[in-house]
Amino acid sequence: MRIAVFVSGGGTNLQAIIDKIKDGYLSDIDIGLVLSSSPDAYALTRAKDNNIPAVVMRSRDYPSVEEWDSEVLKAVEEAGCELIVLAGYLSLLGPKTVKKFSNRIINIHPALIPAFCGEGMYGIRPHVAALARGVKVSGATVHFVNEEYDSGPIILQKTVDVLPDDTPEVLQQRIMKECEQVILPKAIRLIADGQVTIENNIAKVKD
Ligand code: GAR
Repeated sequence: MRIAVFVSGGGTNLQAIIDKIKDGYLSDIDIGLVLSSSPDAYALTRAKDNNIPAVVMRSRDYPSVEEWDSEVLKAVEEAGCELIVLAGYLSLLGPKTVKKFSNRIINIHPALIPAFCGEGMYGIRPHVAALARGVKVSGATVHFVNEEYDSGPIILQKTVDVLPDDTPEVLQQRIMKECEQVILPKAIRLIADGQVTIENNIAKVKD
């Protein structure tokens, strides 16, 4: 299965997918395109180092959001990708792309949805909010993407304990390493194996 990976920043989740392709867990997966919303994303360097085609597509560089949306969709389709993986992608996708790739777009979110999610809850912010609320566990969620932020069917979640001395940065790193980088490749594996179906807006996962 060929996938497109959308990024905006450091690309540790992209790297986790690349590593799992290399170690055989995702040997039948190939990344046909990395699409970045920022020209400065370190994820672009990771793509280049691994000979993966990469493009930067920012909506503000297009005459309208509609044209940007169409071009994004075209890039993914021309690269022959069947699944879009949002791996730290911090823009909202256009409606055309979401519709065309209905149930074929997944996102990794750094909290246990429905906690600490929605518009504005990205990067370090869910971890700041989780510590401010005093939660005792947090984690990450992989879910399908629909028109609203973080509200599509949940595929996988993984938790870690929140420790008394945690700072947002320390918690973020633990969740990235122990949750995100585990469940994002796993969700791709399950989807490629046809183990994920959606019924009444609920994802059913055969593990
Ligand atoms: C990750 O923690 C990811 O869960 C988060 O951005 C970070 C990107 O890291 N995504 C969101 O907050 C989306 N709402 P990466 O670029 O190193 O993979």
